[in-house]
Amino acid sequence: MSPRKIIIDTDPGQDDAVAILLALASPEDIEVLGITAVAGNVPLPLTTRNARIICELAGRTDVAVYAGCDAPLKRPLVTAEHVHGKTGLDGPVLPEPTMPLAEGHAVDFIIETLLAEPEGTVTLCPLGPLTNIAAALEKAPEIAARVQEIVLMGGAYFEVGNITPAAEFNIYVDPEAADIVLKSGIKITVMPLDVTHKALVTKARNDAFRALGTPVGVAVAEMTDFFERFDKEKYGSAGAPLHDPCVTAYVIKPELFTGRHINVEIETGSELTLGMTVADWWGVTDRAPNATFMGDIDAAGFFDLLTERLGRL
Ligand code: RIB
Ligand code: CA
Repeated sequence: MSPRKIIIDTDPGQDDAVAILLALASPEDIEVLGITAVAGNVPLPLTTRNARIICELAGRTDVAVYAGCDAPLKRPLVTAEHVHGKTGLDGPVLPEPTMPLAEGHAVDFIIETLLAEPEGTVTLCPLGPLTNIAAALEKAPEIAARVQEIVLMGGAYFEVGNITPAAEFNIYVDPEAADIVLKSGIKITVMPLDVTHKALVTKARNDAFRALGTPVGVAVAEMTDFFERFDKEKYGSAGAPLHDPCVTAYVIKPELFTGRHINVEIETGSELTLGMTVADWWGVTDRAPNATFMGDIDAAGFFDLLTERLGRL
């Protein structure tokens, strides 16, 4: 079967970095048409920097990295340096990027690519706030029918919030964008905290990354060493949750995940619960299902896949 064509929309972020590395290490499963950076974990200048650092670490300076939106559609930007460090990629010491940013805005790249590629052959993989995706849908509504699938990391139901008591970070930063995406009619698969909090980098798993003995393996071990502090302190977790790599792992091996096709709506009115993903997991409303919302993961299988693929780089 030919590899799936994807656009990775991202706010690196150590976990975004691992997701990108997994995609670039899997050419038989994934063809990365381009990477679009968005403001999120850190401001846009840093997310565009970090995305290029990761491409260079993977030896893939051929991958085009585009700068996208530097703020949410209607709100001021909220960032997460408390989790990812001031650069967004704290942990390893990696050289500043030398590859240039691609010409043009990320939103235009998303639109042009979807219009140029055959209908239903491009998957969008958002790993941060959904600002770029929503902006593209608003600028060119005709692209919605051309998207094969959106596989995104965001939201939570049983796990509730990680940035407020009610909301997960990616959705909270730009709830209006998330609302546009969830109402787009596009086939959507959601990787919420309910799943990503089960993909924890335990010491043994971190040791396995380091034991690869490659610059990529050591860098990933140092990244996850760094960004596990927040979750260990807050949740008492056994290690860093690999949120975003769940997205690219799903594209490669969907059978690692289980979930339900349900209705998911976004709170955009209440300041108290802004950005909450109101997931009808128990089917108590008559609201039409609009997303496959994942609830479980084969964590051992996920880490076996991730470690094997990272070992290729
Ligand atoms: O809540 C976790 C999500 O927010 C991840 O995508 C992480 O990188 C941050 O963007
Ligand atoms: Ca992210």
